[in-house]
Amino acid sequence: MTNPVVENHLTADHLARALRNDVRAGLAGPLKSLPPKWFYDAVGSDLFEKITELPEYYPTRAEREVLRARAAEIAAVTSARTLVELGSGSSDKTRTLLDALRDNGSLHQFVPMDVSESALRAAAETIVGEYPGLAVHAVVGDFTEHLALLPGDSPRLVAFLGGTIGNLLPAERAKFFGSIREVLEPGEWLLLGTDLVKDPGVLVPAYDDAQGVTAEFNLNVLRVVNRELDADFDADAFEHVALWDDVNEWIEMRLRAVRSMHVRLPGAGIEVDFAAGEELRTEISAKFRRERVTAELADAGFGLSHWWTDSADRFAVSLSRAE
Ligand SMILES: C[S@@+](CC[C@H](N)C(=O)[O-])C[C@H]1O[C@@H](n2cnc3c(N)ncnc32)[C@H](O)[C@@H]1O
Repeated sequence: MTNPVVENHLTADHLARALRNDVRAGLAGPLKSLPPKWFYDAVGSDLFEKITELPEYYPTRAEREVLRARAAEIAAVTSARTLVELGSGSSDKTRTLLDALRDNGSLHQFVPMDVSESALRAAAETIVGEYPGLAVHAVVGDFTEHLALLPGDSPRLVAFLGGTIGNLLPAERAKFFGSIREVLEPGEWLLLGTDLVKDPGVLVPAYDDAQGVTAEFNLNVLRVVNRELDADFDADAFEHVALWDDVNEWIEMRLRAVRSMHVRLPGAGIEVDFAAGEELRTEISAKFRRERVTAELADAGFGLSHWWTDSADRFAVSLSRAE
């Protein structure tokens, strides 16, 4: 068997159909929106990596601090034989977990899953080189659709890091937690990274950095739609917006049309109008409190076993057991 194995559930056909459906559903109504997964072509994945290094973007550093401090404990508690990572991207922080599970002697297989084939392949190939003897089975797939297809021997530890859970709306989160619970056996584990509610003066700059990298990342979705659906969005006619919604306790990223526009999207069979100042929502990033995380996990059949935060209480990593 070659190592890494790369299994692809997102054929070009599947992707084209999914993007078409999302664009039709998201741009037809009065409140325009697109799901954030379409940011992540090769360019978008590289831009996200740059974001993680920005001085304003504290979540990656805070989560890494927690993982470094707690990885040995996580390995001892879970004795995981398989580490599954959803939305794995570069799997950079994940090495801390891989090291600890290897040192613990339990780890046999690593299963990273991501929609971004380029990021996933690069990460899988690097990890194979760094961890001789570890079976790496990468899955190009959508974690909202393809969880039932994940390989791996028990006990499994499913890691969902980076605060990516915050990109799902509350109803989508409930469904997502439910589907993770369904694929796990009682006694298996979920490790979840959640960004915490804090001062908007810290939150907003994390999504609107001074160098404009997040703005480029946001605009990238228009370039993806142009390329894949032969659309004619003028990306220069949109500006990046990041705002804090204190009722929903989430950050919203939007693209605001600086002038009125008629956009053709022949690949989706639609044409849409933007008024000057009209906004397209491209991402939510929900921020959490411990009570909400505990309750949502409990509703899905997980019992919270550990809750750790970084030294400045900005970001939490929680470990939960499937009941
Ligand atoms: C916010 S980044 C986090 C990356 C990495 N886990 C980290 O902690 O830095 C979100 C990642 O999830 C992936 N992603 C987004 N939506 C996805 C989906 N529906 N299914 C699978 N992967 C997805 C993206 O390609 C990206 O790598």
